[in-house]
Amino acid sequence: MAVIGERVVKALNQQLNREIYSAYLYLSMSAYFESLNLRGFANWMRVQWQEELMHAMKFFEYIAIRGGRVELFAIEEPPKSWKSPLDAFEYALEHERKVTKLISDLVELAIAERDHATFNMLQWFVNEQVEEEESFGEIVGKLKLAGDDKRILLFIDSELGKREFGGEE
Ligand code: FEO
Repeated sequence: MAVIGERVVKALNQQLNREIYSAYLYLSMSAYFESLNLRGFANWMRVQWQEELMHAMKFFEYIAIRGGRVELFAIEEPPKSWKSPLDAFEYALEHERKVTKLISDLVELAIAERDHATFNMLQWFVNEQVEEEESFGEIVGKLKLAGDDKRILLFIDSELGKREFGGEE
């Protein structure tokens, strides 16, 4: 028997879908960077793809252990290309800000429904979104500094090539 309200389950399932969409968006960005021969950027985005799948699975597992029914919906098609690496990262940062807003809306719903367990679970995502906006924002800042200097772009590319997926970072 479900120990979690229907409105909350519906909203958590929608967020599960948005996390999978985030994974899909960053995989699309990885393909874009591969097409530019920026393999470090492509690697960074594939690690981000793994992170987003991990986020999605956190929702999946939480819904299931609370007795809710996990539902999978169609995944929206992500954009395929951007004007420049900076344009891609600015797009990603904007996307993360939207995700932060969605998480805030979920927290508000948990409060309204007096669902303390869901409220607690969501605090991990509240903190994670601070880190997400910071890591995308930092790269946006570096790309702005690089401007048209290809040597700096290649230096950033080699730095981003070092990123590895660390599970729950
Ligand atoms: Fe799942 Fe990038 O937040």
